[in-house]
Amino acid sequence: MSSITVTVIDREGNRTEGVDWKSHESLMEALTRHKYPILATCGGNASCSTCHSYLDPASFAKSGEIGDEEEDLLDMLDDTRHETSRLSCQVEWAEDLDGAEVTIAPEW
Ligand code: FES
Repeated sequence: MSSITVTVIDREGNRTEGVDWKSHESLMEALTRHKYPILATCGGNASCSTCHSYLDPASFAKSGEIGDEEEDLLDMLDDTRHETSRLSCQVEWAEDLDGAEVTIAPEW
């Protein structure tokens, strides 16, 4: 099994480097395994938006396509949606995302 590491900034602004992300996990699954307070109420189906996170711009560009369901949900977030917003349950592991910086979006 492969694994990469990312930097995570939590809702209090605490920054942790070297957070491992295993190849069988979505980004949301890696974050919840590390006990970040993401509810993931929908279980990773792009329908709750509690896993909303921001990526650094370079990683965002490498994070794959935003699907229609994700786009619709991000659209409803208005204020908290940024240019690099993703639903972390829809971000698949990729070697290219090694070193990404992930900021957990505010709760709404
Ligand atoms: S876990 Fe519900 S949208 Fe990602």
